[in-house]
Amino acid sequence: MTISLNKNVEIHEISSEETYVIRQKVLRPGKPVIQCCFEGDQALDTFHLGAFFQDKLIGVASFMKNSNPLFSPHNQYQLRGMAILESFKKQGIGAQLLKTGESKICSILEEPTLWFNARTTAVGFYAKYDYQIKGEEFEIPEVCKHIVMFKKL
Ligand SMILES: CC(C)(COP(=O)(O)OP(=O)(O)OC[C@H]1O[C@@H](n2cnc3c(N)ncnc32)[C@H](O)[C@@H]1OP(=O)(O)O)[C@@H](O)C(=O)NCCC(=O)NCCS
Repeated sequence: MTISLNKNVEIHEISSEETYVIRQKVLRPGKPVIQCCFEGDQALDTFHLGAFFQDKLIGVASFMKNSNPLFSPHNQYQLRGMAILESFKKQGIGAQLLKTGESKICSILEEPTLWFNARTTAVGFYAKYDYQIKGEEFEIPEVCKHIVMFKKL
């Protein structure tokens, strides 16, 4: 019998500390865990989502109430630390995390904008969900090339 993975994935809120193991493996391989703590992780209006398969954490995403001067000053959230374990990629889990985060932001703010610094390698993923590019590519030192993307939810 074939198991459809994403129907068996549960998404719920987790602590910032729980995100670190996946952030480290996927986004900062070989780097110390301290580099996996982001400013704003502990802010009261930040929330972190975890995707679980058979009680194992396989993906994370964090949403922070940060404003970017590129957008209108109010009602913005920033997505950070979106990461799916290698062996669980391309099975719809990133999409589930993104959509769950979007829904929660819409329950908090009116006409919110969700923006983030996207890895250029992930632009195609976000474009599938109608995120648009803003501006030019830039390098985050010791990480990789990024570009700002956004969507009015
Ligand atoms: C980018 C990432 C979060 C996507 O998560 P995922 O669970 O693999 O993506 P999904 O399976 O939900 O993909 C949804 C759709 O986007 C596509 N997609 C996924 N990753 C893609 C990519 N890097 N480029 C283009 N399309 C992509 C999938 O093929 C799928 O398309 P389909 O609906 O036509 O089949 C994940 O691959 C990842 O963790 N990458 C490494 C870390 C990273 O780049 N994080 C983002 C930092 S900004």
